[in-house]
Amino acid sequence: MSTHRIEFPGTSFAPVDLPDLASLPLHLTVHNSPLLFGCRSGLCGTCLIEFETIAGEALMAPEAAEAEALEIYAPGNPRARLACQLVLSTDLRLRKIDSA
Ligand code: FES
Repeated sequence: MSTHRIEFPGTSFAPVDLPDLASLPLHLTVHNSPLLFGCRSGLCGTCLIEFETIAGEALMAPEAAEAEALEIYAPGNPRARLACQLVLSTDLRLRKIDSA
């Protein structure tokens, strides 16, 4: 099974390697990441992050409901995602951001 690396720049958290297509809230906890999760269903915005792909690959596009939520929480930010809705498909650097 292939894995993807997630890095948390600007924090003391070590990178984590997760399986392809992993759901982040199932693997990331307060012990291994700076990300926080609330509803885990794309509604609350607690898990708002900014991403950068490590190898420059494209990330899977958000589903319609996530895209709608992102218009509210991070309007005009093409690098914003809800970590709870993200399906891991490439190596990423993630930074927690506050909603607008
Ligand atoms: S945890 Fe609520 S939107 Fe992701």
